[in-house]
Amino acid sequence: MSLLAVDGLTVRAAGGRELVSGLSFHMGRGDRLGLIGESGSGKSLTVLALIGLLSPGMTASGSVLLDGLPVLEASQRRLDRLRGRAVAVVFQEPLTALDPLMRMGAQVAGPLRRHRGLRGRALRRAVHDALAEVRLADVARVARAYPHEISGGQRQRVAIAMALACEPALLIADEPTAQLDTTVQAEVLALLDDLVRARGMGLLFVGHDLAVVAAVTRRVLVLKDGREVESGTVEEVLRAPAHPYTRDLVAAARRLHGTLAGISRPAPAVRDGREGDATGRTG
Ligand SMILES: Nc1ncnc2c1ncn2[C@@H]1O[C@H](COP(=O)(O)OP(=O)(O)OP(=O)(O)O)[C@@H](O)[C@H]1O
Ligand SMILES: [Mg+2]
Repeated sequence: MSLLAVDGLTVRAAGGRELVSGLSFHMGRGDRLGLIGESGSGKSLTVLALIGLLSPGMTASGSVLLDGLPVLEASQRRLDRLRGRAVAVVFQEPLTALDPLMRMGAQVAGPLRRHRGLRGRALRRAVHDALAEVRLADVARVARAYPHEISGGQRQRVAIAMALACEPALLIADEPTAQLDTTVQAEVLALLDDLVRARGMGLLFVGHDLAVVAAVTRRVLVLKDGREVESGTVEEVLRAPAHPYTRDLVAAARRLHGTLAGISRPAPAVRDGREGDATGRTG
């Protein structure tokens, strides 16, 4: 059974306007897929549709099978159980996922209590371990802090800890490092890469920067105006982009990050001997 099977996913706004059109892709367990496209191309709407979180009035059609569950037809109860367990999401701005009035430790405890039934000392230990695993230097202080009392990079690490706490089969990261400065971005990417790899989790990584997406995925799907324009392995798409839009993305990534060699192997996130998913084309 595949981890995620998306067939003909179409998302419409309340007035009927098509915002995502006939998107299809499949991921096996442990696969890493990048979803790339400019601002407004439909990346986040695709993510929200995959986890059943489109805002009221928007409709999704087609088929989404996530860990065997038909998401578009699932009841709220089934979706609640799916989120956190089979799938977890790290969003662009961690503050949107964090409660401003709750200490970080208590927020991390939430999913551990809900999905793993942990209580008391076992719960406290699991919270500590989850925060230590995302390489926070001062776990005790961060656990006591409110979201505004820690840095953006620390907040994103906590958001990653929360997403990974229940060992979901699929992690979706929607531009998780877009708000961070370059050094912190590289550290958080490397962390995400390590943790997902160590657990054999699937990773759907969303971004507008081809260089960043290429650093952590094996295959990419390029979106423009809600449609797929191209998909293939990172190497194929970087070396020989078929679509003019993708050529522009590659050119922009080159300008930003130097040579093509530099694009496909930025220092911290990629090591030798990558293993993992098959490198076949999507779909
Ligand atoms: N609730 C909504 N109602 C109507 N239109 C929406 C809604 N949410 C998003 N859109 C529109 O759908 C399109 C796709 O939005 P989406 O958020 O998926 O883009 P994106 O690719 O994630 O962009 P970014 O890189 O800026 O995050 C945009 O034109 C956006 O304005
Ligand atoms: Mg978005």
